[in-house]
Amino acid sequence: MKVVRTPGEVREQVSAARSRGTAIGLVPTMGYFHEGHLSLMRLARQESGFCVVSLFVNPTQFGPGEDLASYPRDFDRDLELAGREGVDLLFAPEAAAMYQPGASTYVEETSVSRGLCGKSRPGHFRGVATVVTKLFNIVAPDLAIFGRKDLQQLMLIRRMVRDLDLPVRIIAAPIVREPDGLALSSRNVYLSPAEREKAPRFHLSLLEGARDMTGAKGEVAQILKDTARRIEERTGGTIDFVSAVDEDMQEVSRPEDCRYLAGALFLGRARLIDNVRIGAAGELD
Ligand code: PAJ
Repeated sequence: MKVVRTPGEVREQVSAARSRGTAIGLVPTMGYFHEGHLSLMRLARQESGFCVVSLFVNPTQFGPGEDLASYPRDFDRDLELAGREGVDLLFAPEAAAMYQPGASTYVEETSVSRGLCGKSRPGHFRGVATVVTKLFNIVAPDLAIFGRKDLQQLMLIRRMVRDLDLPVRIIAAPIVREPDGLALSSRNVYLSPAEREKAPRFHLSLLEGARDMTGAKGEVAQILKDTARRIEERTGGTIDFVSAVDEDMQEVSRPEDCRYLAGALFLGRARLIDNVRIGAAGELD
């Protein structure tokens, strides 16, 4: 695995691979790898002949009071894990290599990114859309992999690629969970042992809510209220939102229009997000 720090070096390596006729796959990450990240790398290797992973804790997607400075980092461990997965190129730039002083151009999506996390993290998705566009321009991948764990991010990227005619195929990867159901996240390290023990109840309660939704046992608003209350009671955390949304991340009012039940929970120092998918025929996926 080759490790490079600048866009110029990425272009050099990628164009050499491309001239051999190889399809290029990209996995954008902020590092501190876990099985979720590694599953994306495996998928990229299956789908392409040259696998690029970017590792960049992107400052523009963090709000003023958020955890940019304390975001977990372990470069040596990441290096070893990515190497073991057969990644061909690891792009790990410093912030100065990504953002010129006085950078003043952003990519902003105005619909998919507005609700859910977009409400409580203003500017977050603008930062994500901007850095992912830059990564697409630097790497010029044939395909890129995103996890369903960050559902709104995935749907935003899909919309952006469609609207801006970006020549990249977006592949969605399933959520990787701990055996007890907690979705893997770099931020899970923020949880105390007591919080970690209660955290899976977030997912379990979302599943319960989704079941109520598919059985159409009542109104969407009431199911969401009950689900939020159960999550708070069972985890001791504070709900940011629990929402019933369609494929475009718009809130729905009829249970039969609900494709995802998505939530965000403040638990100790962590803000956890999760979602469950409801199939077209109303079954839980
Ligand atoms: P990060 O949180 O490091 O996640 C990188 C990728 O891993 C994302 O596509 C995310 O959805 C996926 N992922 C995280 N946990 C997962 C899990 N438990 N199961 C499956 N996939 C999982 O998301 C970002 O970084 C950034 O916003 C980024 C897209 C890199 C832009 O800066």
